[in-house]
Amino acid sequence: MKICIIGSGYVGLVTGACFADLGNNVICVDKEAVKIRKLKAGIIPIYEPGLQEMVRRNIKELRLTFSSKINEAVRKSEVIFICVGTPSKDNGDADLSFVENVSRQIALSMPSYRLIVEKSTVPVHTGEWVERTINIFNKRNMKFDVASNPEFLREGSAIKDFMNPDRIVLGVKSKKASDILTELYKPLNAPIVVTDIKSAEIIKHASNSFLATKISFINAVSDICDKSGADIVEVARGMGLDKRIGKDFLDAGCGFGGSCFPKDLSAFIRISEKLGYDFALLKEAQKINEYQKKLLVKKIEEMLWNLPKKTIGILGLAFKPNTDDIRYAPALDIIAMLSREGARIKVYDPEAMPNARLALSRLGAAKGVEFCKDAYQVSKNSDCLAVLTEWNEFKELDFRKIKKSMRQAAIVDGRNIYDPVELKKIGFRYTGMGRR
Ligand code: UGA
Repeated sequence: MKICIIGSGYVGLVTGACFADLGNNVICVDKEAVKIRKLKAGIIPIYEPGLQEMVRRNIKELRLTFSSKINEAVRKSEVIFICVGTPSKDNGDADLSFVENVSRQIALSMPSYRLIVEKSTVPVHTGEWVERTINIFNKRNMKFDVASNPEFLREGSAIKDFMNPDRIVLGVKSKKASDILTELYKPLNAPIVVTDIKSAEIIKHASNSFLATKISFINAVSDICDKSGADIVEVARGMGLDKRIGKDFLDAGCGFGGSCFPKDLSAFIRISEKLGYDFALLKEAQKINEYQKKLLVKKIEEMLWNLPKKTIGILGLAFKPNTDDIRYAPALDIIAMLSREGARIKVYDPEAMPNARLALSRLGAAKGVEFCKDAYQVSKNSDCLAVLTEWNEFKELDFRKIKKSMRQAAIVDGRNIYDPVELKKIGFRYTGMGRR
């Protein structure tokens, strides 16, 4: 099929590359001309395992092209995916001005029937607004369909998730739209849920909110484990084996971040509010997530008594491993809190250092932060190590060597990646999140 993807961010780029790899002709569009120039040269602006190779392969095989001209791309494509950003406004609402803009431009460019698919995460009723907007600007009266096809891929495993989805959700109003999208996704051999557009839109927000709540639930239980002397890793294992609960997303830690959960939780709370429902459960999930970051700082304080002039070594800045993304990463807030307390900070992350440097400067928290070349340099003369992202390379460190170089041998394991017994045997004071 001839496909056009509008918005070459995380979701757009992965979607475009994967559809091209499945044999379709794809044009990825973005309004940033510099980004498009780089993409044409096979330079990917994000770190995502396997993406660069896939993009380059499909450029070479002429199935994937890039453009900054929406009108041209819309003219050449039968299916148009809207993958633009829907950032949070100050009040938690999703800002849909990019979606509106793109809808208008699509309407002005359609030369014949087009299927317009929203893939960006959008509030319920957005499909209706897209349709209304296209109708207003569709001066030549071209036939079109609007559909909703939310994406469930995760950063760090985006290609694998796209190619092996648990389900594909298609929110449609016509059989034609359903047929086109079913055909497009056929090679993935995954269960397809064909439903109405509003239900599809809610499936996305409800899924992300449920997962975020699951994490906050286990984080709350981890606090009970801390207070009672139980071990959260054991508790989660015992709970997760129940198929109705499931073992995924039961890892307690210093909180969830990223460009999706925090934003989507706020958006779903606002959507509910506007529809007349106070989603207190989700507000509590948000509160618990904020508490986890403060709790981690409190744990460091408990290790070191006073924070001023102590050196804290931070391992991990990205909001999760295998990405350079630091949006809403717990590390940013934790570093800001520690700096305010007068601690000195050394940091290392395998991929996210450039992004973190920028973000910390914007927060006014970069002063006094030393960016190191690896975990060993971070450890040198530190009073406490804090693990904030569970990168694999942190799991295999030489802790005897680290202990010798630290001023005090103390670890706050914000992602529960170490065996407390082993570290204590080496001589560390250890605390995790819900285990000691
Ligand atoms: C999330 C969803 O998992 C995807 O299904 C969805 O498509 C995506 O948002 C989106 O809406 O675009 P992502 O934000 O990439 O994906 O990352 P996750 O792997 O879900 O992790 C989110 C955060 O939760 C991370 O900070 C991670 O450290 C934290 N987390 C995750 C935990 O603290 N504990 C867990 O058990 C799992």
